[in-house]
Amino acid sequence: MSQSEIDQLNASFWNELCGSAFAQSLGITDRTPASLKRFDAAYLGYYSYLLGYIRPGEWTGKQVLEVGLGYGTVGQTLLSSGTNYFGVDIAANPVKMIQYRQVLMNQPSTCSQASVLALPFAPESFDGVISIGVFHHTGDVQKAIDETHRVLKPGGKAVLMLYNQYSYRQWVSWPAATFKAWLKEFIFTRSGGKNQVSEKQRKAYDASLDGTSAPEIVFVSRREFRKMMRKFNILHLTKENNGPFFYIDKKWFYNPAKKLLGIKLFKKPTGGMFLVQRPWLLSTLGRWAGLDLYIEAEKKVNEVPHEK
Ligand SMILES: C[S@@+](CC[C@H](N)C(=O)[O-])C[C@H]1O[C@@H](n2cnc3c(N)ncnc32)[C@H](O)[C@@H]1O
Repeated sequence: MSQSEIDQLNASFWNELCGSAFAQSLGITDRTPASLKRFDAAYLGYYSYLLGYIRPGEWTGKQVLEVGLGYGTVGQTLLSSGTNYFGVDIAANPVKMIQYRQVLMNQPSTCSQASVLALPFAPESFDGVISIGVFHHTGDVQKAIDETHRVLKPGGKAVLMLYNQYSYRQWVSWPAATFKAWLKEFIFTRSGGKNQVSEKQRKAYDASLDGTSAPEIVFVSRREFRKMMRKFNILHLTKENNGPFFYIDKKWFYNPAKKLLGIKLFKKPTGGMFLVQRPWLLSTLGRWAGLDLYIEAEKKVNEVPHEK
């Protein structure tokens, strides 16, 4: 697929706001201020670690760009804490959503429809760039990181989330593909060239209400992420997030020798299974082999400046 085809597919697919299924599960069907507030509270409750990365209070009075706006929860937290907030998204509806939130807050519109692969901003415009779960959809993660670097001021900070190539879900649900990626990366040390991502994989991560999968997804390892961020000083690179349920077969406890691997993922519980709750897993499974990689990184200060 060419880059312009990916862009077109993304612009159309993401017009259904990311988080729509979550909103539906909460019974939210409108955009009244009360519904948005309820959505945001539930979203930040589900991703309970997220504000620890965004830390909206630290951006007060600073120039911050958010890339990939979705339902607008992250933008809302930044707007509410007095950030000089700007937002871009490749799709029209996420931009409209955040513009609507700005209207509700009597704030001027500072968001526009644009791709992170060609940001409509001068070099060194921002103190911070925040982008949660976006670059792996763009078709060119390195270009998205390079654009982030370009628009950041020296010493400016990027807070980014990408999907983890070696999460527990990848190993359990697609062991052969994950092992192949691992061999390629760590044994044959071949870099470059994307790993194949099946439609099933894409659907497990991002699907619209009618079940269509996101048009483009790549997964990255911590090593690849570090490499792509070589023009930054990396402050943290951590794993987070896991699915809602995790079931452990009781037989595993009664007779571990007979059934060594009694762990079942994504299965309905039966009488013979324990249900492990997601919040408990967030601080264990999520941190060891979580679905997402979070990076906080600073643009290096002593560098040859970008051409203006
Ligand atoms: C999975 S959603 C994440 C939304 C939000 N950051 C969140 O965490 O809920 C991905 C978002 O990235 C946007 N996106 C995809 N490709 C993009 C690109 N090339 N430039 C800017 N935004 C893009 C989509 O339109 C969508 O709103």
